[in-house]
Amino acid sequence: MVQRQLPKIPELLELMQFKRLELDGTKRRLEGALTIADLRKIAKRRTPKAAFDYTDGAAEGELSLARARQAFEDIEFHPDILRPAERVDTSVEILGGRSELPFGIAPTGFTRLMQTEGEVAGAAAAGAAGIPFTLSTLGTTSIENVRAANPGGRNWFQLYIMREREISYGLAARAAAAGFDTLMFTVDTPVGGARLRDKRNGFSIPPQLTVSTIIDAIPRPWWWFDFLTTPKLEFASLTTTGGTVGELIDSAMDPTISYDDLDVIRSLWPGKIVVKGVQNIADSKRLIDRGVDGIVLSNHGGRQLDRAPIPFHLLPHVVREVGTDATIMVDTGIMNGADIVASVALGAKFTLIGRAYLYGLMAGGRAGVDRTIAILRAEIERTMQLLGVSSLGELEPRHVTQLQRLAPVAAPAARRVPTRARA
Ligand SMILES: Cc1cc2nc3c(=O)[nH]c(=O)nc-3n(C[C@H](O)[C@H](O)[C@H](O)COP(=O)(O)O)c2cc1C
Repeated sequence: MVQRQLPKIPELLELMQFKRLELDGTKRRLEGALTIADLRKIAKRRTPKAAFDYTDGAAEGELSLARARQAFEDIEFHPDILRPAERVDTSVEILGGRSELPFGIAPTGFTRLMQTEGEVAGAAAAGAAGIPFTLSTLGTTSIENVRAANPGGRNWFQLYIMREREISYGLAARAAAAGFDTLMFTVDTPVGGARLRDKRNGFSIPPQLTVSTIIDAIPRPWWWFDFLTTPKLEFASLTTTGGTVGELIDSAMDPTISYDDLDVIRSLWPGKIVVKGVQNIADSKRLIDRGVDGIVLSNHGGRQLDRAPIPFHLLPHVVREVGTDATIMVDTGIMNGADIVASVALGAKFTLIGRAYLYGLMAGGRAGVDRTIAILRAEIERTMQLLGVSSLGELEPRHVTQLQRLAPVAAPAARRVPTRARA
């Protein structure tokens, strides 16, 4: 028999813990976002369709991006038990400096199109979190203004070799003068990828006011208010070079770039140099042998060649061939801190996030980028603790395998028990 009684008022009061209503709408929205996927949903609601699709979309059938994300979802972790990891150290040394987390912000063009604070929000949030920020050649904030937004932190500059080489050399000189410590030479854009969502949306830069964009604007008045009341969207570092937006994009995609360009850039650039967009073992070896400071295994977030190799899958093969001393980085498809932990376990020295950053930006400007970084940081720390490692250096390939469509190929072999665990 259940014994019943009248509810006691003090006990009832104890149960009633009403949260104070957060009056700041942005804060309320962002606090409700627990994952990068949640930020994506908010971003989609708040951004005009054409701008959201430009960011969210990829090339052709978008298979490269979907596969890269699937590869991360198919990770299986192998934790060690009874290995205390009360506090974890997530910092790394990368390209001659420190980063508090094993990821940085990837270069993205047109960033103020997504949300008006654009690169300034990204650079300032990166600086506050102690991670590097990369400015794109096709950025919508100038080299000098990014420096002003992140004066004490690390800024990297992504270089497209333009058809008119002098333009690129001039940009590199300006980035060096502004204290950018690393140049990221992107090599996977001999021509532009076929972004079909953009074609279908009639996407243009700057956005045009058509009947459909006006209808689309009705539920998103703030984006349009920002767009119409802030400085013109343009390639801010290229304003003095002349040419329309279309001509400049055209010029940035040059099918004639070659290793000779890399040699010229290396002779001009005083800092570290990284090649981004490497997609096979032979090229990785060749670049490391040629003395570049690092490479980024990347398929440009699936925005160039569709059905390109999955960078996360390529990673252990490249590390095996070029050795663990080389600075191998990876991007494309990262949506969770666990993806980053797995990449480090398989030998990546660092990772880059593109859309994860942009979803945060679209969801809430600077505060949204802070939220992206906070979500990834918490996921990285928790994953490390659950694996039983307290520093990134303790992560090893044995911590990660890849599910083969959920069917184990064979029972995992008995593993060597680490000495610390035996003690
Ligand atoms: C909207 C957008 C614009 C981008 N613009 C550039 C760019 O200007 N230069 C570049 O090297 N990569 C660019 N990228 C690729 C990113 O640097 C990065 O490789 C990619 O976003 C990683 O994949 P993820 O978005 O899944 O993280 C862009 C990516 C996106 C989503």
